[in-house]
Amino acid sequence: SLRVAILLSGGGSNMVALVDSMTGAHPARPVLVLSNRPDAGGLEKASARGIATDAIDHRAFPGREAFEDALHARLLAADTELVCLAGFMRILTPGFVARWEGRMLNIHPSLLPLYPGLHTHARALAAGDTEAGCTVHEVTAALDSGPLLGQARVPVAPDDTAESLAARVLTAEHRLYPAVLERFARGERSPLHLR
Ligand code: GAR
Repeated sequence: SLRVAILLSGGGSNMVALVDSMTGAHPARPVLVLSNRPDAGGLEKASARGIATDAIDHRAFPGREAFEDALHARLLAADTELVCLAGFMRILTPGFVARWEGRMLNIHPSLLPLYPGLHTHARALAAGDTEAGCTVHEVTAALDSGPLLGQARVPVAPDDTAESLAARVLTAEHRLYPAVLERFARGERSPLHLR
């Protein structure tokens, strides 16, 4: 089955959703959870699930490329075939992205192409959007773009705050990312749309 490495920087709820989905006859399996933050909560959750973990602290390197060289070497050491970014909060250089072209997915908490970058929920609320959601896409050199693999939509409530909207979108992320991963591992590239 397809060997998947998951990259994160934080709590890792998307990583947990992905890992917990890869059971039975699933076409992929988790081989490594990698964080740029040694204190990321996701590392313990991965260890508790019996997955190999590692932290590569970006602050220990003189620049982005040295950090990415270490990341790349660690991914190769695990015989990684597919990389899933799951709350990984470092921008990747075009050079690194090229090395994983067609083999790296990302989840983003907005309905791309709306709101690439940060503070997506506050921006959706400020715009008066009545719908929000999340996107899984293939990673290409341009930030938060690349071929669309799936989107899930949620309603915006009149009294939503950025926090309450983020929580609703996160629940949708946990449904969308595993569904897209399974399809991708089976060779499916047409976008999945969830409500
Ligand atoms: C998720 O909402 C994910 O979409 C977002 O960070 C959160 C991570 O939560 N990713 C980005 O903003 C990427 N730029 P998690 O650690 O609980 O999965």
